[in-house]
Amino acid sequence: MRAVVYDRYGPPDVLRLEDVERPKLKDGAVLVRIRAVAVTRADCATREANRRSGPVVSLISRSISGFRRPKQRVLGSELAGEVEAVGAGVSEFAVGDRVFGTSGFHFGAYAEFISMRESTRIAHMPAGMSFEQAASICDGGLNALRCLRLADLHRGQRVLVYGASGAIGTAAVQLARYFGADVTAVCGTKNLELARSLGADRVIDYTQEDFAKNGQTYGVIFDAVGKHSFSRCRGSLDPGGSYLATDGLRNLILAVWTARIGDKRVLFSIPPRYTKQDVVFLKELIEAGRYRAVLDRCYPLEDVVHATRYVETERKTGNVVLTIDDHRVR
Ligand SMILES: NC(=O)c1ccc[n+]([C@@H]2O[C@H](COP(=O)([O-])OP(=O)(O)OC[C@H]3O[C@@H](n4cnc5c(N)ncnc54)[C@H](OP(=O)(O)O)[C@@H]3O)[C@@H](O)[C@H]2O)c1
Repeated sequence: MRAVVYDRYGPPDVLRLEDVERPKLKDGAVLVRIRAVAVTRADCATREANRRSGPVVSLISRSISGFRRPKQRVLGSELAGEVEAVGAGVSEFAVGDRVFGTSGFHFGAYAEFISMRESTRIAHMPAGMSFEQAASICDGGLNALRCLRLADLHRGQRVLVYGASGAIGTAAVQLARYFGADVTAVCGTKNLELARSLGADRVIDYTQEDFAKNGQTYGVIFDAVGKHSFSRCRGSLDPGGSYLATDGLRNLILAVWTARIGDKRVLFSIPPRYTKQDVVFLKELIEAGRYRAVLDRCYPLEDVVHATRYVETERKTGNVVLTIDDHRVR
């Protein structure tokens, strides 16, 4: 099968198409013919061994993905496709079912096929969705869900989402609203209307106004794009308020520190732990019309380097997806 592989950590150019062996179908697993796969910030960070985050984070990253070279040559986690074959004992899925989900840090989805156990994070696609849209559900959706659950939101709580136009940010606005929060979204000028359409009660254009200086306070500030800091927005937190972080070793240390000292906390959970129930939860929200995945651009699998460069501009709106031709219908 065709897959995008990489054999050394480095810039987007280390990615290349290659013919590799098709994954073997095991008992209790389904073989999925992948039709669309998201290119995520996590893919990019893993590909460059998190060098941009400094030597300590890079070392931790390599301890997981391989010290000298990547152990898993195929990146990509958030996918959508069709069930090609089912292993013994599979009861939830049948050949031809349209499915979506995430392989998480097992990766392997920049490829024509992936084998996933049916008990893992895979579910039937919401009705009426394209593969491209379905591949856009899990990255932001699962990350935002995990963060917001940490914050234990209550109805009417004032939540500010900083970076409301990214994959996590667009998901966070919608999920915080779903959990009953009063949501202020902070994004750039071109995405103000998008943030409103996702349900934000208020929007702030970060190019025009610094939310940390306008005197407003919030129970939760969700830094959905890793561009702010606890110290800069501490004054905008209510007493007992929480700063939700998505990135940065510093935030991990602050999470430990603020759990013991002071009444304002940094919340940060790694490693991320998502369940099949979380994937099904997002599917059900979509079917109920309470959630949508925001898709910025699609690229064919062959253009993975261009797609990756675009993701690395850190300016995408929602998600970027690679599409994989179905050679059977050519
Ligand atoms: N902890 C984890 O497990 C985990 C997993 C995945 C991702 N992450 C991290 O989570 C963060 C978000 O990832 P993502 O994929 O959601 O991001 P993303 O989609 O790449 O974010 C892009 C968006 O951020 C906005 N943005 C860029 N600079 C900004 C700024 N200074 N202020 C406000 N908005 C800004 C851009 O809008 P404009 O063009 O209008 O500026 C763009 O729409 C990243 O730091 C990523 O590394 C963490």
